[in-house]
Amino acid sequence: MKTVLVFLAVLAVGTARVPIEKKPENEDDGFTVKPLREESLDAFVSIEDFKNFLESDRIVGGDVENPAHSNPWQVLVMYGGLCGGTLLNNRFVLTAAHCIPSNLNTTSTIIAGANTWCSISSTGSLSWKTESMQQKRKVKKVFMMNGNLAYGKAGQLFDIAILEVDSPFTLNTYVVPAKLPTARTPSGTNLVVSGWGTTTEGGSISCTLRQVTVPTVSKTECNNYYGGSIKSSQICAGLKAGGKDSCQGDSGGPLVVKRSSTDATVAGVVSYGQGCARPNYYGVYTDVYTFLPWINSVLSGTTWTSCPDSRTSWIGDDYCDNEMNSLACLYDAGDCCNNTTPGWNTYCGSTCICKQP
Ligand code: ARG
Repeated sequence: MKTVLVFLAVLAVGTARVPIEKKPENEDDGFTVKPLREESLDAFVSIEDFKNFLESDRIVGGDVENPAHSNPWQVLVMYGGLCGGTLLNNRFVLTAAHCIPSNLNTTSTIIAGANTWCSISSTGSLSWKTESMQQKRKVKKVFMMNGNLAYGKAGQLFDIAILEVDSPFTLNTYVVPAKLPTARTPSGTNLVVSGWGTTTEGGSISCTLRQVTVPTVSKTECNNYYGGSIKSSQICAGLKAGGKDSCQGDSGGPLVVKRSSTDATVAGVVSYGQGCARPNYYGVYTDVYTFLPWINSVLSGTTWTSCPDSRTSWIGDDYCDNEMNSLACLYDAGDCCNNTTPGWNTYCGSTCICKQP
């Protein structure tokens, strides 16, 4: 009952973003004992993973950040719903395109320096909590990849947006930008994802920032369960046994290589998942590296020329297409680089070269 009240309270603060969930072709019956048993027979699921899954009641399977403010690049994005964001510098916040309401006049609240931004009363109602380190701003301008690469046209691909705040944040111990990546994230990398989202699938949000460490897995592994919908412009992270994941309300938030509480590189943006922390259904993140040229153009105020091709089926499809191997087309979303997929060079003849910087 409490859960329901808290959830309604979230709706009152702002309409919670409806999770965008893809139903893979091979969808099983989801969260039942059956796949779990199958999993526990799988030699690749360690006892540790299984224990993590059983303890998956808390972000899901994580902990509150400790000490407080040890993820100072984390930003709260309340723009028609609860989302997260990553601070890129004193003016720009990286978030998910699905966190942006269609009506840009919607009230926006962007908070940096927050650890506990709300409090929940015994009756389950939610109110803002001020902390001295918090810096509140409004959105001044929204940047999304335009034209044929716009989110929506390409399904869940291109789930990325940049928000410019109305006045710069003051950078200090509590407000520290994350760095942009200089290379693609290899699978098996342990990354930290953080947010104020629900701590169980369908559960209630957390007023205090939580984080969990999840390893990235290969696109091939992820596509075994997502029916081939995962592209090279996305990253999957989580445990095969489930139990550790981001969840509703974490969207737009940071998936980072965390070196210390003042040093992180943002690898991904929380995008979606089939449920949360379910066995086999890894969390899906937008790959920041793929979008670097666009991000840099926004940060530097350079005009972005959108990809001339209006079809979207080529995006990150693992085939290197000559005509997409340009800056405007994000170098075919990485399909011409470090590609080992059989047939990847079918459409690029003798010019199958990685042009990504
Ligand atoms: N789409 C969700 C949101 O709007 C985030 C989903 C992340 N899900 C996951 N299983 N990793 O907050």
